[in-house]
Amino acid sequence: MMRAAMKTTVAKVKPELISFNPLHVSDTTTSSHLNHAADLIRTNQVVAFPTETVYGLGGNALSDDAVKAIYAAKNRPADNPLIVHVALVEQLQRKLLPPDYSIPNCYKELLAKYWPGPLTILLPVLPGCPVSTLVTAGQPTFAVRVPSHPVARALIALSDTPIAAPSANASTRPLPTRASHVVHDLDGRIPLVIDGGSCGVGLELTVVDGLVDPPQLLRPGGVLLEQVQQYWPSVIVAKKTAGKTEAVRTPGMKYKHYSPTAKVWLTQDYDKAKQYVQQHTDLKVAVLSTQTFQEIQGAANYAMGTTPEAISHSLFALLRQMDDEGMDEVIVEAIDKSNGGLAVMNRLEKAAVGYL
Ligand code: TXA
Ligand code: MG
Repeated sequence: MMRAAMKTTVAKVKPELISFNPLHVSDTTTSSHLNHAADLIRTNQVVAFPTETVYGLGGNALSDDAVKAIYAAKNRPADNPLIVHVALVEQLQRKLLPPDYSIPNCYKELLAKYWPGPLTILLPVLPGCPVSTLVTAGQPTFAVRVPSHPVARALIALSDTPIAAPSANASTRPLPTRASHVVHDLDGRIPLVIDGGSCGVGLELTVVDGLVDPPQLLRPGGVLLEQVQQYWPSVIVAKKTAGKTEAVRTPGMKYKHYSPTAKVWLTQDYDKAKQYVQQHTDLKVAVLSTQTFQEIQGAANYAMGTTPEAISHSLFALLRQMDDEGMDEVIVEAIDKSNGGLAVMNRLEKAAVGYL
């Protein structure tokens, strides 16, 4: 039986009018929208909200019902664990950790540098830990971060609730970096989208595991491998694929991810891209250039920016635009994997069917 569609409200807020220590919102509309969202979180309903990486779909991390609603709205496989978002280390300690437990020393310098910000760490699930087992997908660890986006911070602080949130796209769709992307995928499936404008990083965050030896980078993201290496010289990059019975540790290990409907190809070879366009005149092909590609006749040509930062900022909005424009196939100029290129190429390789 189909569920009756619920009405999805989009509430526009002004992130620049939110300040902290103490929390103060100097715009009454923003304040009332945030309070309404916090009420929804406290009553175990779900809310989409901007973070500095992508829009998240959040719910009370301590409530099985809230977490079930997140998985259902996104159509997300239940064995893919969620990240818990907290407002401060103080809230993490008070709400999620035993009073006599302190965060492992190996994390201290990384957290001092990157929290609040796009870094997620793994902590052990200890006896009495209130995090829903649906958040951890039954694993002995939970993933946690302190977001820096004012809307995310304000929502967690106002509800005084740790919020479990995956990206607010439908499972397998490109990441949502604007409220309109969330509405496109989840309209009628969630009660509220807080629209705080477009997200800055446009890539998800970095996930690291310091509980194993050597420590692992589970997902490259806003914090770069090169930056993690400064604190953890022995860090290794976790493998990208999981077998059917293996636990999911890095996203996209088991499942298709980030893909538009159009077929995506990668190549660093301009001649191959050109040849492909010439051989497929029956298809609508787009070429997304990054560093060197010239326009290719017979294709729709777009520039994605030349630096990893610029590319990650435009990547998912452009992939969605390709579907809106009815492209059959998209060829993306691949970039080098060093200096920030790793995170971009990691997402692109998951969205793509392969290299030309
Ligand atoms: O930027 C972002 O990462 C966004 C915003 C909303 O914070 N979050 C997000 O979450 O997109 P998602 O669903 O893409 O990432 C959750 C991933 C899982 O796929 C998994 O790889 C890792 O975090 N993860 C979560 N809990 C874990 C655990 N206990 N052990 C290992 N990996 C875990
Ligand atoms: Mg995701």
